[in-house]
Amino acid sequence: MAETETNPMRRPLPDGIVPEDEVTRTEDRWIAVVLGMLGVMMAVIVVTGVTNALHPPSNVEVIDPTTLHLGGEFAESNFGTAVEPDGSVTVRLIAEQYNFVPECVLVPADTPVKFRLTSADAIHGLLIVGTNVNTMVIPGFVAEVRTRFDALGDYRMPCDEFCGVGHQGMWAHVNVVPKGRFAHLSTTERASCVQQ
Ligand code: CUA
Repeated sequence: MAETETNPMRRPLPDGIVPEDEVTRTEDRWIAVVLGMLGVMMAVIVVTGVTNALHPPSNVEVIDPTTLHLGGEFAESNFGTAVEPDGSVTVRLIAEQYNFVPECVLVPADTPVKFRLTSADAIHGLLIVGTNVNTMVIPGFVAEVRTRFDALGDYRMPCDEFCGVGHQGMWAHVNVVPKGRFAHLSTTERASCVQQ
């Protein structure tokens, strides 16, 4: 009979007390559930990274923000869209309180596009709505992002980093046009929305 059992480990437990091996089983199940959730979250990060080209910006290139206008890559004459020898295009622009220069970017569809920009003053943000382009634009550094536009049309490009009292009015747009419009452009010319 249970009441006569002398070994305390073998006596029946009072009502409401859960046996140790059942506690262990429950804990093991919850550990498995938590590991499963971690696995799913890691998989989501990896799958979106691979299929949607989501990746942290990794370009580190320094530039003197006080002399941008004096020459070099970010001189005004070099702004806009340039066709590279391999057929891809590079867009160069500047973010400043409270404008992007140029305010409208012209790019060809179905073509690799590289944006290169820097800030002349505060920290700004570059976001192109409906694409994977989203980067901070920090004075002293060149921000570089690569993308490709499959659909023609007008894409909004707001500054998405608070940069001062005029932040909410700081936005530009990207005009995606048929590829053929860029065919005649030589590598030394720059295309923009005004001279399309
Ligand atoms: Cu520039 Cu906000």
